[in-house]
Amino acid sequence: MTAKVDAVAGETAATVSAHAATAATTVSRAEPEGAAVPVTYGASERPPRGDYSTARGDYVCDQNWSAYTPEQHDRYRRLYADRIARLPGLACDEFLDALAAMEAADAIPDLDALSIPLKATTGWTLVAVPGLIPEDAFFALLAARRFPVTVWLREEDEFDYIVEPDIFHDFFGHVPLLFNPMFADYMQAFGRGGLKAAALGGLEYLARLYWYTVEFGLIDTAQGLRIYGAGIVSSGSEPRHSLHAPEPARVAFDLERLMRSEYKIDTFQATYFVIDSFEQLFEATAPDFGPLYARLQRQPSHPAGIVLPGEKTFAI
Ligand SMILES: [Fe+2]
Repeated sequence: MTAKVDAVAGETAATVSAHAATAATTVSRAEPEGAAVPVTYGASERPPRGDYSTARGDYVCDQNWSAYTPEQHDRYRRLYADRIARLPGLACDEFLDALAAMEAADAIPDLDALSIPLKATTGWTLVAVPGLIPEDAFFALLAARRFPVTVWLREEDEFDYIVEPDIFHDFFGHVPLLFNPMFADYMQAFGRGGLKAAALGGLEYLARLYWYTVEFGLIDTAQGLRIYGAGIVSSGSEPRHSLHAPEPARVAFDLERLMRSEYKIDTFQATYFVIDSFEQLFEATAPDFGPLYARLQRQPSHPAGIVLPGEKTFAI
């Protein structure tokens, strides 16, 4: 769980929007004083981006929606139009249908307003946060069915590439599937698992699970492989790469195999894991991970991009 954010600077646009994104993987614990003190990266000199001065003890802050400028709303509108145009036939129907129903194409979304239909559908609410937050705060919010969304929007020169997650990545990438009941339950189960993982030595494995599912997951559908991962859908060029490039390994989801697999943070992914359904994902998180973590700690990791003998893969 070391900080790796700097590593992505200057690299392919594609991956990045994502990854920073895993708050769970990139931020070390906050200072004991709490939310008033900015979080710090474990291995980076660069402070996290965002104003932490108004955040409360759980890192939640006010969105202050009226403070967004016309230029920022316009940039969000163009980001939305650019990314949505790349997704037909590539993103899964659950994502596209929910995104369309949110009617959030025209302006930076008001998180409180969008929480009303979300709460009515799956019991989740959206909460504003200043930026990346410590993993324990992140897990606690997910366990309470509260999804943290960064309040700030990227600058114009970050249109194609951004290192840390902004409101566009967090909202466009993550929120649509929170309307899916099974995926919504999976996210809460992930948060609950995260609260237990540190004591079990499992944070690294849980970060891989988040990365390869929530951020970079693919799903097998009757129409063929589709994207559901937030890091892919919010990226400019990874959608097509993830489904149509010949290089990456597209491997059938297997929890233990996935948790043994390293991932790329500075290029397109070399491996994607493919689920059959969101139900499969949720059921994989049902068992106690304690024995699994103990087993994983005795085994070497697999490098990204390999296919193991006998493993089910998906051709493009
Ligand atoms: Fe993300």
